[in-house]
Amino acid sequence: MIKQSNFGKMPDGTIVEKFCLTNHQGSSVEILNLGGIIHRWLIPNKQNKHTDIVLGYDTVNDYLADDSFLGALIGRYANRINKGKFTLAGKKYQTDINLGDNCLHGGSQGFNSKVWQCTVLSDADNPSIMLTLSSPDGDQGFPGEIKVKVIYTLTEQNRLKIEYLAAAEQTTLYNPTNHSYFNLSGHNSGSVEADQIQLLASHYTPTDERAIPTGEIAEVDNTPFDLRELTAISQPLASNHQQIAYGNGLDHNLCLDAYAPQTKVAFYAGKAISQNSDVVLKVYTNMPGIQIFTANHFENKKGKDSVLYQAHQGVCFETQFYPDSPNQPHFPSATLEANKEFYSVTEYEILF
Ligand code: BGC
Repeated sequence: MIKQSNFGKMPDGTIVEKFCLTNHQGSSVEILNLGGIIHRWLIPNKQNKHTDIVLGYDTVNDYLADDSFLGALIGRYANRINKGKFTLAGKKYQTDINLGDNCLHGGSQGFNSKVWQCTVLSDADNPSIMLTLSSPDGDQGFPGEIKVKVIYTLTEQNRLKIEYLAAAEQTTLYNPTNHSYFNLSGHNSGSVEADQIQLLASHYTPTDERAIPTGEIAEVDNTPFDLRELTAISQPLASNHQQIAYGNGLDHNLCLDAYAPQTKVAFYAGKAISQNSDVVLKVYTNMPGIQIFTANHFENKKGKDSVLYQAHQGVCFETQFYPDSPNQPHFPSATLEANKEFYSVTEYEILF
């Protein structure tokens, strides 16, 4: 079932709509056509109530003022591009710079800040919507017009499947993700440090102090990034490893072992388990990397129901091409060739 309602208004008066996808298991996901934001994800709990497992805001203005991309679709390029500079097909480009001297998550007016067109694809079992957006040539400094589609499907198996499609007339870059912050005990339940995580990655991309990859693809052995066995989030956060200091916590790209170029099938990448073990999140993707981010800079951030979010009260699993890949030729490429179709898929499965 899908219920559509009015969520609010953009500064220019455009209506922001909310689409609530509900399956027969009693789960529902609320998605805004603003930024394709996953606003709420409710799952049944033992108290015969619902737990909302993602962080978010109450109003359009709060989402627009947000610099943490809560729940949003990211484009054109998730994560950082060093100084916003890259060369493509022999031409140099300069993108918008919006964090320090780098481009983060597609620039200051990225896909997260746009109102997308939304169509209901299926209103019955496995409710599904399609969001579309056209980004003009030169948008935030990126070359070529690109037409993107994102399909959200809430399956009857409690998987939220996110499919990203795109095509461009001119060769460009595309590296989409979703920036949901999960708190499996509830968005208002405090720290996730006692939750456990597992990521099937034996390598990661170390960064400099500006969070830009050095180019090394390093082994995770004997580092806080060895998360191949279930590990409490508090453990890497407590490490005195230099990378943890640089990221002010976990804010790093892990290279997923199961990645195979060209595959369109989502493989198992990792999971998180709530501290009381009631809820499990499993992540599947066909992308090569995952940025694990523990909301390190949150401080009294006023979220939904006026809850004040603090550091480490949410965790993101941002499936992606590695950060700054346009400047690291040995990283899997985020180049989208002219007139070729882009497809990627990430699935978040909730077991409760
Ligand atoms: C980045 C962080 C950033 C956060 C919110 C994450 O994907 O890696 O460094 O602070 O997004 O903007």
